[in-house]
Amino acid sequence: MHTRTTSIRTNQQYIAGRWCPGAGEQHVQKDLFLGTAFSATHLSTPKDVDLALSAAAEAASVMASVPSHTRAAWLRQAADRLEGQRREIAGMLVAECGKPLSIALSETDRSVETLRFSAEEALRLAGEMVPMDASPRGEGHMGFYLRVPVGVVAAITPFNAPLNLLCHKLGPALAAGNAIVVKPDLRAASCAATVFSIFHSLDLPPGSIGLVHGGREVGEQLIVDERVNLVSFTGGEMAARSILRQAGLKRVSLELGGNAGNLVLEDADLDMAAEHLAVNAFTHAGQSCIGVQRIYVHDKVYDTFMGKFLNRVAGVATGDPYDEKTMVGPMIDSAAVDRLMSWIRDAVERGARVLHGGTHDGLILAPTVLTDVNRHMRVVCEEVFGPIVTVTRISGVQEGIDAVNDSRYGLQAGVFTASLNAALACVRKLRVGGVVVNGTSNYRVDHQPYGGVKCSGIGREGPRYAIEEMTERRMVVLW
Ligand code: SIN
Repeated sequence: MHTRTTSIRTNQQYIAGRWCPGAGEQHVQKDLFLGTAFSATHLSTPKDVDLALSAAAEAASVMASVPSHTRAAWLRQAADRLEGQRREIAGMLVAECGKPLSIALSETDRSVETLRFSAEEALRLAGEMVPMDASPRGEGHMGFYLRVPVGVVAAITPFNAPLNLLCHKLGPALAAGNAIVVKPDLRAASCAATVFSIFHSLDLPPGSIGLVHGGREVGEQLIVDERVNLVSFTGGEMAARSILRQAGLKRVSLELGGNAGNLVLEDADLDMAAEHLAVNAFTHAGQSCIGVQRIYVHDKVYDTFMGKFLNRVAGVATGDPYDEKTMVGPMIDSAAVDRLMSWIRDAVERGARVLHGGTHDGLILAPTVLTDVNRHMRVVCEEVFGPIVTVTRISGVQEGIDAVNDSRYGLQAGVFTASLNAALACVRKLRVGGVVVNGTSNYRVDHQPYGGVKCSGIGREGPRYAIEEMTERRMVVLW
C-alpha cells in the first residue's frame, strides 16, 4: 500500500531559471479520493506569463546552438532522476488526478521512456540531400536541408496523463533545441512542478524551460503571443477550435480526443476480446483519449461475447486509487460526473438499456455498459472521457467499419479477428490515426506516431514525430 501524503505542497512558477510564486489567486487541489487538500498553486498573472515568454525568446537562440550530445545528455539525466522518484511522482498522480496506483506507476515508467526516446532522437536530428539535378535548372548545384528548431514552443497539457503527456512536449522540444513554456492543467500542477525541479537540477540555459500556471486566460496569452512559434496542445476539441482561431500563422500541433470504436468480428477470440475491452474501457475511469467507447460485435457471436464481457466488467475493481488492484478511481471533478450522468439519463430516455453500472458514489462512477444505443446519443457521438461503453450489433466487417467511421473523430481503433483479410480491410478503410489488431484502441507505445484525423487532431506525437513538428526544414543550396 502506498504511503499517503499528509502535508500540503506548494507549486510555484519556473521563470528564467528561477522558482517564483505566481502573483495571482491560489488554486487548491484536493486529493480526489481522500478529499483533503493536497496542493496549492498560485496562478500566473499576465506579467508572469510575459516574463516567461521573454526569457524563452532570449533562450531560444542559445538553445539553437547547444550541441545535440548535450541536449541528449540532459534528457537522459532527467529520465534517470525521474526513474529515481518513481514512487513519489506516482503518488502525486494518484492524489491529484485519482489515477489508480498501478496505472500511475505505469505512466511514470512510460514518461521515463519518453524522455529516453527523446534523448535518442536528439542524436538523430538530421536533414537530407535534395537531388538538385533532377531538374535541368539544378544541374551543377548541390542542395540539402537542415532541420532547425522552431524557436519557442508553448505547450498546454491535460490532467489525464499529466506526466507522460508533459514529457511528450518537453522531451521533443529540448531534443530539437527549442525553448518551451508549459501551462499544465491546474489540477495536475504538482506533477509538472516535480518534472521541472528535475530539469532545474540540470542547469539548462535560463529561460529554456518555463512553467506558468492558470486556466484559459493564461493559455490564451501564450497562444496569441508573437514570440511563440508553435502551440502544442493536448486536450479537448472545443479548446482546440479556439486555439486555431487565435493562433494566427503560428504552427499548431493538436492531440485531441475521440470516441474510439472497437470491432469484435465473428472469428474473434472472444475471451481475449472480452478481457481487453473490459479493461480498456474502464481503466483510469475511461479518462483516456483512446479509451474504448464504442464496441461493435458481430451478430453471430454477440450473445456469447456479452456474457463474457459483462462477467469481466463485474470484476472491475473500483474505489480507492491507492489500492494497486483498483482500475476505476475518482473522476477528475464533480462536473465530469454530472455531465456523464446526464448523458446516461439522456440515452436511457431515448431507448438505451443499462446492462451494468449507471450509478455513481461521489466522484466514482460505476463502470457503465449501455446497449440499444443509436448514433445520435451523446454517449455514442461525443467524446465520453469516462467509464461508459456502448455495445452494438453488426452483421459484417463492412458494417463494422462504417460504424467506426461514423464519427467526427478518428484517433485509434481496435479490431478483434482471426482473419488476416478482415484485419487488413480494417487497416485500409478505418479513418483513424492508428489501428490495433487483436488489441483495443487504448494501446500506445511512446515512440510510435500518435495522433488523429478529422476532429481528433493535427500532427503527430511520439518523440521522432513531434520533433518533425517542432523543427523547420532550412534549405541550403551550394550554387
Ligand atoms: C491520451 O489520452 O491521449 C493519452 C493516451 C496514452 O498515452 O496512453
